[in-house]
Amino acid sequence: MIGKLNHVAIAVPDLEAATALYRDTLGAKVSAPVPQPAHGVTVVFVELPNTKVELLHPLGDKSPIAAFLEKNGAGGIHHICYEVEDIYAARDQLKAKGARVLGDGEPKIGAHDKPVLFLHPKDFVGTLVELEQA
Ligand code: CO
Repeated sequence: MIGKLNHVAIAVPDLEAATALYRDTLGAKVSAPVPQPAHGVTVVFVELPNTKVELLHPLGDKSPIAAFLEKNGAGGIHHICYEVEDIYAARDQLKAKGARVLGDGEPKIGAHDKPVLFLHPKDFVGTLVELEQA
């Protein structure tokens, strides 16, 4: 069902420092910060030859990553995103196997303007999983 790894998202307490780390220490190509008010984050995209890393920093009062950063003060991997061909088919197959879909179970338009869903980390070995219809 799942296809390519679309991105790994890392929540970071200091976006400038994290960007410098990826750009200067790791030698990666990084974007300018992109505010995404609808998603409560500012994102720096790290472009790798085979996938992306997204550095996420809270934006606004109700950021979905604020609680994560409270628990993980130094930052950490927040979620990983796999591509699927048909998000409704993927959701229905996963639900039939007992996996929990977060929220109301309906795909939302994600940060890349494509439909996404999140799966409960307790059902996926402690990892918050995002599915994106590629
Ligand atoms: Co994501």
